[in-house]
Amino acid sequence: MKRGRSASLSLSALREEAAGCRACHLWKDATQTVFGEGPKHAPIMLVGEQPGDKEDLAGKPFVGPAGQMLDRALEEAGIARNTVYVTNAVKHFKFMPRGKIRLHQKPNTPEIRACRPWYERELAAIKPALVVAMGATAAQSVFGKITPIGKNRGHLIDLDESTKALVTVHPSYLLRLPGEEARVREYENFVRDMKIAAALLHQLHRAA
Ligand code: URA
Repeated sequence: MKRGRSASLSLSALREEAAGCRACHLWKDATQTVFGEGPKHAPIMLVGEQPGDKEDLAGKPFVGPAGQMLDRALEEAGIARNTVYVTNAVKHFKFMPRGKIRLHQKPNTPEIRACRPWYERELAAIKPALVVAMGATAAQSVFGKITPIGKNRGHLIDLDESTKALVTVHPSYLLRLPGEEARVREYENFVRDMKIAAALLHQLHRAA
Protein backbone atom coordinates (compact mmCIF):
# COMPACT_ATOMS: atom_id res chain seq x y z
CA MET A 1 0.00 0.00 0.00
CA LYS A 2 2.70 2.41 1.08
CA ARG A 3 4.88 1.36 -1.87
CA GLY A 4 2.00 1.90 -4.31
CA ARG A 5 1.16 5.34 -3.01
CA SER A 6 4.72 6.63 -3.14
CA ALA A 7 5.24 5.20 -6.63
CA SER A 8 2.06 6.82 -7.88
CA LEU A 9 3.13 10.13 -6.36
CA SER A 10 6.53 9.88 -7.92
CA LEU A 11 5.05 8.92 -11.31
CA SER A 12 2.73 11.91 -11.34
CA ALA A 13 5.61 14.12 -10.17
CA LEU A 14 7.74 12.72 -12.99
CA ARG A 15 5.00 13.37 -15.52
CA GLU A 16 4.72 16.97 -14.33
CA GLU A 17 8.47 17.49 -14.46
CA ALA A 18 8.72 15.91 -17.91
CA ALA A 19 6.06 18.33 -19.21
CA GLY A 20 8.68 21.08 -19.00
CA CYS A 21 11.60 19.02 -20.35
CA ARG A 22 14.11 20.99 -22.42
CA ALA A 23 16.87 18.35 -22.49
CA CYS A 24 16.93 18.43 -26.30
CA HIS A 25 15.42 20.65 -28.98
CA LEU A 26 12.42 18.45 -29.80
CA TRP A 27 10.09 20.23 -27.36
CA LYS A 28 10.15 23.34 -29.56
CA ASP A 29 8.00 21.97 -32.40
CA ALA A 30 6.04 19.30 -30.53
CA THR A 31 2.64 20.07 -29.01
CA GLN A 32 3.50 18.52 -25.65
CA THR A 33 5.54 15.90 -23.82
CA VAL A 34 3.89 12.50 -24.18
CA PHE A 35 4.70 10.67 -20.98
CA GLY A 36 4.10 6.99 -20.25
CA GLU A 37 0.75 5.68 -19.08
CA GLY A 38 -0.47 2.69 -17.14
CA PRO A 39 -0.74 1.16 -13.67
CA LYS A 40 1.92 2.26 -11.18
CA HIS A 41 3.19 -1.27 -10.60
CA ALA A 42 2.48 -2.79 -13.97
CA PRO A 43 4.37 -6.08 -14.37
CA ILE A 44 5.14 -5.22 -17.99
CA MET A 45 6.50 -1.96 -19.39
CA LEU A 46 6.24 -1.56 -23.16
CA VAL A 47 8.64 0.91 -24.75
CA GLY A 48 8.10 2.38 -28.21
CA GLU A 49 10.09 4.90 -30.21
CA GLN A 50 8.44 8.31 -29.90
CA PRO A 51 4.90 9.71 -30.07
CA GLY A 52 3.44 10.04 -33.55
CA ASP A 53 1.13 12.74 -34.88
CA LYS A 54 -1.97 11.46 -33.05
CA GLU A 55 -0.11 10.89 -29.78
CA ASP A 56 1.43 14.37 -29.93
CA LEU A 57 -2.04 15.90 -30.18
CA ALA A 58 -3.67 13.59 -27.62
CA GLY A 59 -0.78 13.65 -25.11
CA LYS A 60 -1.05 9.85 -24.78
CA PRO A 61 1.22 7.10 -26.09
CA PHE A 62 0.11 4.63 -28.76
CA VAL A 63 -3.36 5.96 -29.55
CA GLY A 64 -2.90 6.14 -33.36
CA PRO A 65 -2.59 3.39 -36.01
CA ALA A 66 0.50 1.80 -34.38
CA GLY A 67 -1.39 1.77 -31.09
CA GLN A 68 -4.32 -0.04 -32.71
CA MET A 69 -1.93 -2.64 -34.09
CA LEU A 70 -0.35 -3.00 -30.66
CA ASP A 71 -3.74 -3.36 -28.93
CA ARG A 72 -4.77 -6.09 -31.37
CA ALA A 73 -1.54 -8.06 -30.84
CA LEU A 74 -1.72 -7.67 -27.05
CA GLU A 75 -5.29 -8.92 -27.03
CA GLU A 76 -4.38 -11.88 -29.20
CA ALA A 77 -1.50 -12.70 -26.85
CA GLY A 78 -3.87 -12.55 -23.86
CA ILE A 79 -2.53 -9.33 -22.34
CA ALA A 80 -4.99 -6.58 -21.40
CA ARG A 81 -3.58 -3.20 -22.40
CA ASN A 82 -4.83 -1.57 -19.21
CA THR A 83 -2.58 -3.87 -17.18
CA VAL A 84 0.67 -2.73 -18.84
CA TYR A 85 2.62 0.52 -18.65
CA VAL A 86 3.18 1.98 -22.12
CA THR A 87 5.84 4.58 -22.85
CA ASN A 88 8.31 5.77 -25.46
CA ALA A 89 12.10 6.11 -25.56
CA VAL A 90 11.70 9.70 -26.77
CA LYS A 91 8.83 11.73 -25.37
CA HIS A 92 8.42 14.46 -27.96
CA PHE A 93 7.21 14.02 -31.54
CA LYS A 94 10.01 14.60 -34.07
CA PHE A 95 8.68 15.48 -37.48
CA MET A 96 9.24 17.36 -40.71
CA PRO A 97 6.35 19.59 -41.88
CA ARG A 98 5.25 18.69 -45.40
CA GLY A 99 2.28 20.88 -46.38
CA LYS A 100 -0.46 20.08 -43.90
CA ILE A 101 1.17 16.79 -42.92
CA ARG A 102 3.80 16.24 -40.23
CA LEU A 103 6.15 13.51 -41.43
CA HIS A 104 7.66 11.30 -38.73
CA GLN A 105 11.45 11.60 -38.34
CA LYS A 106 13.48 8.96 -36.54
CA PRO A 107 15.11 10.27 -33.34
CA ASN A 108 18.91 10.31 -33.38
CA THR A 109 21.33 9.09 -30.70
CA PRO A 110 21.75 12.48 -28.90
CA GLU A 111 17.94 12.79 -28.69
CA ILE A 112 17.57 9.22 -27.41
CA ARG A 113 20.29 9.86 -24.81
CA ALA A 114 18.78 13.17 -23.73
CA CYS A 115 15.44 11.45 -23.08
CA ARG A 116 16.84 8.30 -21.43
CA PRO A 117 16.68 9.66 -17.86
CA TRP A 118 12.87 9.72 -18.15
CA TYR A 119 12.80 6.06 -19.15
CA GLU A 120 15.18 5.25 -16.27
CA ARG A 121 13.01 7.11 -13.80
CA GLU A 122 9.83 5.46 -15.07
CA LEU A 123 11.56 2.10 -14.75
CA ALA A 124 12.64 2.88 -11.17
CA ALA A 125 9.12 3.96 -10.21
CA ILE A 126 7.26 1.05 -11.80
CA LYS A 127 9.77 -1.75 -11.23
CA PRO A 128 8.25 -4.02 -13.87
CA ALA A 129 9.28 -7.67 -14.13
CA LEU A 130 9.59 -7.26 -17.89
CA VAL A 131 10.48 -4.42 -20.25
CA VAL A 132 9.47 -4.96 -23.87
CA ALA A 133 11.55 -2.89 -26.29
CA MET A 134 9.64 -2.43 -29.53
CA GLY A 135 11.96 -1.43 -32.34
CA ALA A 136 15.53 -0.18 -32.62
CA THR A 137 15.09 3.15 -30.82
CA ALA A 138 13.46 1.48 -27.82
CA ALA A 139 16.14 -1.22 -27.75
CA GLN A 140 18.86 1.46 -27.83
CA SER A 141 17.28 3.22 -24.88
CA VAL A 142 16.55 0.07 -22.84
CA PHE A 143 20.05 -1.39 -23.25
CA GLY A 144 21.87 1.96 -23.37
CA LYS A 145 23.54 1.00 -26.66
CA ILE A 146 22.65 0.11 -30.23
CA THR A 147 21.00 -3.32 -30.04
CA PRO A 148 20.05 -5.06 -33.31
CA ILE A 149 16.49 -6.37 -33.30
CA GLY A 150 17.02 -9.44 -35.49
CA LYS A 151 19.78 -10.89 -33.31
CA ASN A 152 18.08 -10.19 -29.99
CA ARG A 153 14.37 -10.56 -30.53
CA GLY A 154 12.11 -13.24 -29.18
CA HIS A 155 13.85 -14.36 -25.98
CA LEU A 156 14.11 -13.10 -22.42
CA ILE A 157 17.29 -11.18 -21.58
CA ASP A 158 18.35 -10.29 -18.02
CA LEU A 159 18.32 -6.52 -17.53
CA ASP A 160 19.14 -6.77 -13.83
CA GLU A 161 18.45 -9.25 -10.99
CA SER A 162 14.71 -8.60 -10.98
CA THR A 163 13.96 -7.32 -14.48
CA LYS A 164 13.97 -9.10 -17.82
CA ALA A 165 13.88 -7.52 -21.25
CA LEU A 166 12.29 -8.72 -24.46
CA VAL A 167 13.16 -7.20 -27.83
CA THR A 168 10.68 -7.18 -30.68
CA VAL A 169 9.78 -5.10 -33.72
CA HIS A 170 7.89 -1.83 -33.58
CA PRO A 171 4.18 -2.12 -34.50
CA SER A 172 4.65 0.64 -37.15
CA TYR A 173 7.01 -1.70 -38.97
CA LEU A 174 4.06 -4.06 -39.46
CA LEU A 175 2.00 -1.22 -40.94
CA ARG A 176 4.72 -0.31 -43.44
CA LEU A 177 5.40 -3.80 -44.80
CA PRO A 178 4.62 -4.20 -48.49
CA GLY A 179 2.49 -7.23 -49.31
CA GLU A 180 -0.17 -9.14 -47.44
CA GLU A 181 1.95 -12.25 -46.97
CA ALA A 182 4.80 -10.40 -45.19
CA ARG A 183 2.28 -8.44 -43.11
CA VAL A 184 0.53 -11.59 -41.91
CA ARG A 185 3.80 -13.40 -41.19
CA GLU A 186 5.39 -10.50 -39.31
CA TYR A 187 2.22 -9.83 -37.34
CA GLU A 188 2.20 -13.46 -36.24
CA ASN A 189 5.85 -13.15 -35.19
CA PHE A 190 4.99 -10.02 -33.21
CA VAL A 191 2.11 -11.83 -31.45
CA ARG A 192 4.45 -14.76 -30.76
CA ASP A 193 6.84 -12.34 -29.01
CA MET A 194 3.98 -10.86 -26.99
CA LYS A 195 3.01 -14.41 -25.97
CA ILE A 196 6.48 -14.75 -24.40
CA ALA A 197 5.57 -11.71 -22.29
CA ALA A 198 2.18 -13.26 -21.46
CA ALA A 199 3.82 -16.56 -20.41
CA LEU A 200 6.15 -14.69 -18.04
CA LEU A 201 3.15 -12.90 -16.59
CA HIS A 202 1.37 -16.22 -15.94
CA GLN A 203 4.54 -17.61 -14.36
CA LEU A 204 4.68 -14.60 -12.03
CA HIS A 205 1.02 -14.99 -11.10
CA ARG A 206 1.53 -18.65 -10.33
CA ALA A 207 4.58 -17.86 -8.17
CA ALA A 208 2.77 -15.06 -6.24
N1 URA B 1 4.92 5.05 -32.27
C1 URA B 1 5.58 5.01 -31.09
O1 URA B 1 6.72 4.56 -31.01
N2 URA B 1 4.98 5.47 -30.03
C2 URA B 1 3.76 5.97 -30.03
O2 URA B 1 3.28 6.37 -28.98
C3 URA B 1 3.06 5.98 -31.26
C4 URA B 1 3.67 5.52 -32.37
